[in-house]
Order: sequence, then C-alpha cells, then structure tokens
Amino acid sequence: MTGTGVGRSSDWATRIVGLDLELPLLDGRLARYINLDNAATTPPLREVLDAVLRFLPYYSSVHRGAGMKSRVSTAAYDEAHHTIARFVGANTHTNTVIFGKNTTEAINKLSYRYPLPEDAIVLSTLMEHHSNDLPWRRRARVVRATATSDGRLDEDDLDRLLETHRGRVALVTVSGASNVTGFVQPIHRLARKAHAHGARILVDAAQLAAHRPIDVKPDDDPEHLDFVVLSAHKMYAPFGTGALVGAKDVFQDSAPEYRGGGTVDVVTPDEVHWAGLPDREEAGSPNAVGAIAMAAAARVLMDTGVATMQSHEASLVAYALERLRSVSGIRIYGESHPSGLSDRVGVIPFNLDGVPHALVAAILGYEGGIGVRNGCFCAQPYVAHLLGVSSREAARLARQSLMGDRSARPGMVRISLAAYNTVEDLDALVEMLIRITEGRYHGAYRQVPESGDYVPDTPITVLRPPPCHPEAAAVLPS
Ligand SMILES: Cc1ncc(COP(=O)(O)O)c(C=O)c1O
Repeated sequence: MTGTGVGRSSDWATRIVGLDLELPLLDGRLARYINLDNAATTPPLREVLDAVLRFLPYYSSVHRGAGMKSRVSTAAYDEAHHTIARFVGANTHTNTVIFGKNTTEAINKLSYRYPLPEDAIVLSTLMEHHSNDLPWRRRARVVRATATSDGRLDEDDLDRLLETHRGRVALVTVSGASNVTGFVQPIHRLARKAHAHGARILVDAAQLAAHRPIDVKPDDDPEHLDFVVLSAHKMYAPFGTGALVGAKDVFQDSAPEYRGGGTVDVVTPDEVHWAGLPDREEAGSPNAVGAIAMAAAARVLMDTGVATMQSHEASLVAYALERLRSVSGIRIYGESHPSGLSDRVGVIPFNLDGVPHALVAAILGYEGGIGVRNGCFCAQPYVAHLLGVSSREAARLARQSLMGDRSARPGMVRISLAAYNTVEDLDALVEMLIRITEGRYHGAYRQVPESGDYVPDTPITVLRPPPCHPEAAAVLPS
C-alpha cells in the first residue's frame, strides 16, 4: 500500500480545531503536531465549537430560572439528553440519560446504585480499564474472564464463569473496545449470555462511541444493552461531560447517592421526595455547555455516519500495521496482522527492542512532534498479561514503584487513531521509529525515577513557547 492509498477521511481536515497547529521541537524548529493519542482524548470538532459558541449568548441557569435565557438553556440542556438517547438508540420511556463528568463518574454512579445483594458477583474481564474495575470492587466480588495470549477476550472462560457462578452474577460489565489493544467485544452476544443467566450488562463505550455505531436495541431484545457509559472528550467534544444511559428502574428504586439542589421535588425538615429522572441523578447546577457540546458531537457522528469513519480508520490501521513491520525490533501486541481488522478499533500498542517505552514516547514527542501515550494505560493487569510479566515480577515492580522508583515500570507505547489522521501521520511515525532504533536521535535524555518519564538533558528553555494561533490568541494566557 502506498502513502497515497488512504487520504484524510472526507473533509475532516477542516473540521478539527487545531489540526494545523505547529509546536516547537527539541531543536527549536516548529513542526505540525501529529496527534496519535486519540484514545486518551480527541481534539474538538469545529461543529462542536460552533454549537457551543451559538449557545453561549443564551447561557444561563438550567432548571433554576424564569428568565428567557434560563428557559432557552433549560430547553437546550433537556434536548441534549434526547440526542444522546438517540445516539445509542435508547427508548426514553424506560431508559434515562444521566449527564456527569465522564465515563469514570458514570460507572461509579452505577456502582453505587445498581442493586447488588450481599453475595453478588460482578463478572468482568481482565481487559478492563481501571475505571470499569475499581468501582465494582467496592460493592461486590469481581470475577474476571481472562484473555488469550494475544489479548482477546477468552469467551470460553466467560461462559465457564457464568456457569460456575450461576444465579449469583448480578451484572456483566465489559468495555465495548479495549483502550490497550483496540479489540472490539461482541457486546450483543455477551448481552444475550448475561440475560440468559439473569444478569444485566454494562458496556463501557468510552472507546467505542467515536469508532462504531452503538445500538442498545429494544429493551425486550435478548441482546439489549442495559447500561452504556460514554465520555464526550473521546467523541471530539471537550467541556467535561459524560453520560450514563440505562434502565430507569435502577435509579427509581433507590435514593440518589449525591443529594442537594435539583434532585428533589418536595423537602420538609423531616421528609424528602426525590425529583423524577434524570434530575434526581444530576445533583447541583449541571454542566450545560458540556451537554450541548456532547450532543453536537453525537449529531455529527450520527450525520457523518460512524460507519464511514470506521472504514477510513480500518484502512489506516491496515496501513500502519503494514508500515510498522519495516521497523526492526518492533513487537506489536494484540492483533498485528493487517487482515485482522473487523474486531478492532485504531489502537496499536508496541515496544521497540532494547528501548524503554517511556524513552520512545519522549523522543517521538520532543523530536518528532508526535503525541502518543506510554505505560499501562490505566489497565495494569491487562498490560502485564500482554507483556507476560509474572506475578512475582509484578509484585517486585510494584514494591519498587511504591518506594517511589518508577523507572522500571513495565509498559508499552500506544498509538491511537481517529477519523482525521492520515497516512502522512503514520509515515512520520514510522520514520521516527526507524531513527530511534538506529540511534539517530539528537537529544540526550535522562529518566526521572519518580515518574519513570524521560526528559531531555538540554535545558527546557530550548523549547519556545507555543506560537499564538489566531484562534487561541483571545483565550490563551499570555
Ligand atoms: C475503555 C475506557 N474506559 C474508561 C475510561 C475512562 O474514561 P474517562 O477518563 O473519560 O472517565 C477510559 C479512558 O481512557 C477508557 O479508555
């Protein structure tokens, strides 16, 4: 495949804010910033920014004012709930959309409210982000289906666990797509299995929403997704919002964990009657701008067709895997063959033989202007599994880390792609990786033991401050 085989998806170049931003490299040159870290957060869509700017003149208190601006703000905020319901195909008679900060908060909320009897089991997988694991540990015994050596869900193990704990599994919780390997889970098949065992299913769709259409299906469909959680900042909409979409009964049957303004209907000194949904679950003044931004992003994703973006991304992944093969000493984790594309999103984790992951990431950033992430990506057990770190070694490294020396922490480098990335971005990555493996990088780097990060020895003042982009000039601190 040639570099011209996969262009930029439709008109994305003009739709992403900051795509042509130039930032300084270690040698002082300015270079276009190449963002290959979309699994962490995506840059804003122009349509999202436009929607926010259109809304701001009307911005006022939501559900708390009689003035016309308050009415407009309230209507826009309420409507955003409906847009998110539509985005995942949820029936709003039986399901609610609750806005919060992000996926992590949404899962925590559900973990407080989901009915879990004393001996209940939450069935999860080894592949989860910490945000879909730690909240459940507090409330139930968590058992995890393991992963195969290449990092796919071991569905036989999940079936076995459902049988072993028959009658006690209250919830199955899985990520829609892995933030480490990009593997997409068979969520509807897993829903069918969960329901057959009397459990409900939660899908952590943080990595799915901007890459695959989501359809929770009708409530009485055996493949229905009972709960879905999303982060707007991974859907091209910053401004700090996430959503929990799911069965109303769970929230109606118990009192909200956060209480206060907005959550109530009637209050006397001795009595409280909670408001209806979703108000009772959105304590305090809501983040109206965040909700409007998230709804705008959802509309773009629905209109553009996530499927179109999916096909562009699949071409990029195939191209990346093909090109990465030319880097000697590279070890790609998960699926590394370009043909295995149907069950993955554009996340590729790798290591370079003999070069620490943190050093690779630092050189890519300082000398290539390429943003990636390294480490364990908030999924330490899964990354340890993929790396083949023994439990004894993991314990030793954990002790070292807890003593404040994180220099030997295991990890990987991760690139994660989005609809606006191009083959040129990937060519630049591969060229830099070849330079690294051949020792043709310029900086002298030293590791900071406390963080495990590498920083250039050259005084940091070599870096010029970012140039003021005309759009940013008005808002960036000088
Ligand atoms: C699969 C997955 N779940 C949950 C999260 C947490 O998302 P947030 O930080 O937006 O709460 C992430 C973040 O990377 C993720 O990738």
